[in-house]
Amino acid sequence: MSPSPLERVPRLEDLPPLRAKRVLVRADFNVPLVEGEDGRRLVEDDYRIRAALPTLRWLQERGAEVTACTHLGRPRGRPDPRLDVGPVRERLSELAPGVGLLENLRFDPGEEANDPAFVARLVEGFDAYVNDAFGSSHRAHASIVGPPLRLPSAAGLLLAREAEMLGRLLSSPERPYVAVIGGAKVADKLGLLATLAGRVDRLLVGGAMAFTLLLAQGHRLGRSLVEPEHVEECRALLEAAGGRLLLPSDVVVLSPEGALGAGTSRTGEARVVGTDLPDGWEGVDIGPDTRAAFASEIAGARSLFWNGPLGAFEDPRFAEGTRSVAEAIAAADAYSVVGGGDTVAALDACKLAERVSFVSTGGGASLELLEHGDLPAFEALRLAPNAPGR
Ligand code: 3PG
Repeated sequence: MSPSPLERVPRLEDLPPLRAKRVLVRADFNVPLVEGEDGRRLVEDDYRIRAALPTLRWLQERGAEVTACTHLGRPRGRPDPRLDVGPVRERLSELAPGVGLLENLRFDPGEEANDPAFVARLVEGFDAYVNDAFGSSHRAHASIVGPPLRLPSAAGLLLAREAEMLGRLLSSPERPYVAVIGGAKVADKLGLLATLAGRVDRLLVGGAMAFTLLLAQGHRLGRSLVEPEHVEECRALLEAAGGRLLLPSDVVVLSPEGALGAGTSRTGEARVVGTDLPDGWEGVDIGPDTRAAFASEIAGARSLFWNGPLGAFEDPRFAEGTRSVAEAIAAADAYSVVGGGDTVAALDACKLAERVSFVSTGGGASLELLEHGDLPAFEALRLAPNAPGR
């Protein structure tokens, strides 16, 4: 049984009195933006902003002057007008009047480099620091790991809740525990798959990443997305996981001239085949037998974790695999946690977000927490001067 990620992490109640004090809140407002009709950038989905509101309010109610900070996109250490926080600031001012917002942290190379001089500039004038940026808590960046060494600090309500809800899967999950992992690239998730394979009762793998695992089993994959350089690792994973790892038994394929896409850009013929694909065809979703097998495993689970779409769901022709998993998880009598931007978007598109136990605001962060049991954000907070037991 792993210790809770929150062990020895200072909480909001561990902060000194906050009346008239200046508090810096690291939030994860890395939200999708869209261009409005007048060309202005707008926040497309404010879920991550709303998720931080309880912490911002908690601090304001205690008389603190609150300033938030966030990264937005990946500007690589340089100011980029397409990624300034203007649209986020506007939405935040509607949702949390009186809370300030600093400019995109990643406009400065010191953020990703965890440069002590950048940390010093960031915390200057502040009396306390709160981390509520669960989505970024796997990054050992300046704004995540630096301030706790210099200021009384605390985990915000969102960060603590994420750790608690995901932590339940780490510390004695009710069994059977079933994880569903999809997405495009197996390379990104090999470590996670190996860890999960040792912890879960069933590991269901779909999405394009399943094709490299099928390749490792000797199947022919047509023009599907595969990563031949990771076949050896996939073979080792399959061997270690044995019968606990379930791969697709049938695949929806798209004809050689076909193209994925929206509207009229969608072309080609789709059909269902086994796990040896015809030459030139591309695997784009799990087939009906796999959907049924996955749904039956999910229905029997008492604990569930899902990350990653099972097919190219942005093309409605190939959304069935992802939809069927979302529906099975929503219907299951289990403790269910869903994480990852695409996965949560798919769940929302099916209007099922209310039917799972917890929707994480973290993609990479939720995966790394399940893989390693701890994250740089928690490690840093344990070093704060006001951490319990220090
Ligand atoms: C996310 O959207 O997953 C987080 O905000 C982290 O963003 P990053 O992958 O660019 O660090």
